[in-house]
This record gives sequence, structure tokens and C-alpha cells, in this order.
Amino acid sequence: MIEKIGVVGAGQMGAGIAQVAAMNGFSVILNDIEDSFLDSGMRRIQKSLSSLLKKDRITEDQKNKTLDQIETTLKIKAFEQVDFVVEAVIEKESLKLDIFKQLDETCKPEAILSTNTSSIPITRIASATKRAHQVIGMHFMNPVPVMKLVEIIRGLATSDETFSATRDLALKLKKTPVAANDSPGFISNRVLLPMINEAIFALYEGVGTTEAIDSVMKLGMNHPMGPLALADLIGLDTCLSIMEVLHNGFGDPKYRPCPLLRKYVEAGYLGRKTGKGFYTY
Ligand code: 3HC
Repeated sequence: MIEKIGVVGAGQMGAGIAQVAAMNGFSVILNDIEDSFLDSGMRRIQKSLSSLLKKDRITEDQKNKTLDQIETTLKIKAFEQVDFVVEAVIEKESLKLDIFKQLDETCKPEAILSTNTSSIPITRIASATKRAHQVIGMHFMNPVPVMKLVEIIRGLATSDETFSATRDLALKLKKTPVAANDSPGFISNRVLLPMINEAIFALYEGVGTTEAIDSVMKLGMNHPMGPLALADLIGLDTCLSIMEVLHNGFGDPKYRPCPLLRKYVEAGYLGRKTGKGFYTY
């Protein structure tokens, strides 16, 4: 039975996952490598809960209970007692492999280790552990408290039990699980990121301004936000990493990252999190 959830990474995805887990009655341990990252993750959670309280979606008591359910730690060692882990660190393969090795050594044998990776193969991440049958992709969407989807991705060795337990957990988090195969970008980012990359090419080639491109997709296709604003929300570094995974994984030039995306990332224009991307915040 899953009661205690460990979340690795207190960034926008990790904080959102910790919040949703705590709101749904799970006890959560949130881990990161610096106090300042944990503080900023907890501030993000506070802000989101306050906005839900303001709209009467939750009570003051539920807000306080949710916060009480979350413990923070700098040590993965604190995950000895967790039943389920969601790893949500940056999209750097070597880092994820290292974390999974540590999780495998620390967590109890029956614990399931999941990753919120947006595109790195689950089978490769599982290979860093000695429990590949208990490793799975659990891909949440940003902003986590709002978006209904959780994409669930089995690696080559993932067992049926691990899949069912992960799907049941997604339902308990009031999300809708959808299964995808372990192919670069899974379903979500296989479809979404080439669209965003193409929007960046349209900007790069002067087909339209940032505002024009986003307006066309919002007003013409009913997208809730334009692709360039969405890129800023996701983080341009994450967008670039996903395009690189698609490009390397398929070896098809249609997935080449737009040079403008690369340039923005090199300049440190990473979107909302740095205050500047295609828009200024
Ligand atoms: N916590 C709690 N509530 C939040 C929130 C948060 N972090 N962020 C937004 N909300 C709530 C708002 O309070 C608001 O609630 P209300 O409708 O009840 O008043 C609601 O969400 C809508 O927010 P806003 O009114 O501020 O703004 P919008 O109407 O423009 O909606 C949006 C914002 C929900 C982000 C919407 O623009 C949207 O759905 N955008 C597309 C998001 C998307 O595509 N996400 C997927 C990205 S891909 C991904 O994550 C995968 C990764 O691997 C790359």
C-alpha cells in the first residue's frame, strides 16, 4: 500500500507533484540539493494553496493539513521508508542515472521508483537500478495542480504490478492516467515539442512576431496559451533537452532544435523561471 511518497527535485514540477500528493492525503518527503531550492519549492506550494483557498476550492484547514503533510530534506537517505518515489529533477540523463542508483540503494526493496522525465527512455533510467521491474515513467503536466493528465510509461522490464500501482496512484491524485510506450518524447512531447520548435522557427525566420504567432494559435486553434508562451512556462532549457532527445533518438532532421532556441538557452533566457524567454516577466 502506498502511504508515503518521496519527491526528488523541488522545482516547478517536483513542488507541484508534492503539493498534489499532500492534498490527496499522502505523506510526502520533498528532497533537493540546496535549502534555497527547498524554500522556493515550499513558497510555490504556499502560493498555489493560497490561490485555491482564495477561490474557496479548499479550506484554511485543508491548506494547513497539506503543508503539514510535506517534510523537506537534503538527503536521499531520508527516503528509506517511502513506498513510492517520483523523481523530478532537470532533464539531464547522467544526473537521473546517478539519482536512480542512489534511490535503489536507499529505498526499501518493494518501493516503486518513478520518473517524471519528459523524454529520457525509462528503460535506460531503469538500467541504473537492480529493480528495473519496479521502475516506471509518471509524467505530469505543468502546472501540476491544474492539468488532468498523467502519462504512464513502462520500461522494457516494468511489471504489471508496478503499472497498476502507478495507475491507481494517479487516480488517487485525481488525475487521468494514459499509457504511452517508451519511445522518445512518449506521446505528449512527441507531438507538443515539434509544434513549439516550429513556432520558434517561424519567429526565427520572421514569419510573424512572438505575439502574432501566439495569437494565431490561441484565437485560431483555441489553444489556452500560444506555443511561445507555453515554451516559457515549460522552460526553454527543458524544451531544448526534449528536442535533443527526439533528434538523437530518431536521427531524423525534422526534429532538429531551432538555432534560436539554442541561442536563448545559451543566453540564460530560460522563460518564466529566469524572468526572460520569448516574453519578459
Ligand atoms: N496552482 C493552482 N492553481 C493554478 C496554478 C497553480 N500552480 N496555475 C494556474 N492555476 C489555476 C488558476 O488559479 C485558474 O483557476 P480558475 O480558472 O479556477 O480561476 C486556472 O488555473 C487558470 O489559470 P489562469 O486564470 O491564471 O490563467 P489561464 O486561464 O490562462 O490558465 C493555464 C493557465 C492553466 C496554464 C492555461 O493557460 C493552460 O492550460 N495552458 C497550457 C498548459 C499546458 O499545455 N501544459 C502542458 C505543458 S507540457 C508539459 O508539462 C510536459 C513537459 O514534459 C514539457
